[in-house]
Amino acid sequence: MEYAIDTRCIHGEGHKNADEKCAISYPIYQTASFSHLTPGHNPNGFDYSRESNPTRAYLEETVSSLENAYDTIAYASGMAAISAAFEYFRPGDHILLGEDLYGGVVRLINRVSVKNGYEIEFADTTDPEVLRKKIRPSTRAVYLETPTNPMMRVSDIRAVAKAAHEAGALLIVDNTFMTPYFQQPIREGADLVVHSGTKYLSGHNDTVCGFLCIARPELAETFRILSKTTGATLGPFECWLCLRGLKTLALRMERHRSNAEKVREWLKGCPQVEKIYYAGSGMISFTVASAELALGILKHIRLITFAESLGGTESLLTYPVLQTHPDVPAEQKEKLGITDTLLRLSVGIENPDDIIRDLEQAFRQAAQA
Ligand SMILES: Cc1ncc(COP(=O)(O)O)c(C=O)c1O
Repeated sequence: MEYAIDTRCIHGEGHKNADEKCAISYPIYQTASFSHLTPGHNPNGFDYSRESNPTRAYLEETVSSLENAYDTIAYASGMAAISAAFEYFRPGDHILLGEDLYGGVVRLINRVSVKNGYEIEFADTTDPEVLRKKIRPSTRAVYLETPTNPMMRVSDIRAVAKAAHEAGALLIVDNTFMTPYFQQPIREGADLVVHSGTKYLSGHNDTVCGFLCIARPELAETFRILSKTTGATLGPFECWLCLRGLKTLALRMERHRSNAEKVREWLKGCPQVEKIYYAGSGMISFTVASAELALGILKHIRLITFAESLGGTESLLTYPVLQTHPDVPAEQKEKLGITDTLLRLSVGIENPDDIIRDLEQAFRQAAQA
């Protein structure tokens, strides 16, 4: 029997008493290594925790179940998962990147992967016809976020997957903002899904982790060898924290979304707000009349915290131009609208009236300054 997604957040694939001691909360197997009975005979299939660990395996199965993936690898951060995805390619491979991406990915491409000799090109993935024109015989992948960070631009995953697959290229989707609760890219045709599990999946602003969800066995084999060898896999305690966070993913996502919709309504009526960018989930970006006002709001918020990151129980306000996107070239930032008047709000699950009251007083004080 296939369980609904909110049930799978709690029970994974539904293996009751998955632990041999029948613990309800899956144990933290805090061990580096596992004993062997005889050479080559290891009864539980675990050798060494860089390669695999029961707590990690339980988390990976749970995330695979949520994302409809064949396999999932849990990494020490979202960037470790994304770096692993990029390790798949070879010199000369052409990779199309969505135009608006988390700044760390742009830094990875410009500062780290540059030595690998990929041909990187940015493309507007929100228009499949424009994208199609950029695809070349050497194109091996299209990589995108939908919605994007921070401008909330949305791509049609199914249409992009079709265009990529016709050219023999992979589609890689960062599903951090929507989570599998709202969007399952593998169902829409994506070959790989990456996550900053630090965000909604763990959900409590207390864990850094990442996931690479893999649609097919042959890709899984390649990435398993890669992760075992390069070794950025997630430690058992963080795996457990993420498992605990996932149990409430469905509840949290419903509340993040309903809170964000209330905050959006308030922002719409606020004369100092110029543009609002919202595409569902708990994330809202907006521009205000001046950089001074944006900085003033950051200074005066009390309940909401001025901090990088998103997707946790606590509301966080971020200044993308300096915090998440400093390494994106200035002209690209300008083109995308990542300016000094843009703020990004990760709406937490506090009482929505308290969030709005905090914004009200911060806007008021910033305007008086
Ligand atoms: C959309 C998105 N993808 C990936 C990352 C990187 O994840 P991590 O910070 O867990 O390495 C982030 C971080 O903010 C992000 O916002």
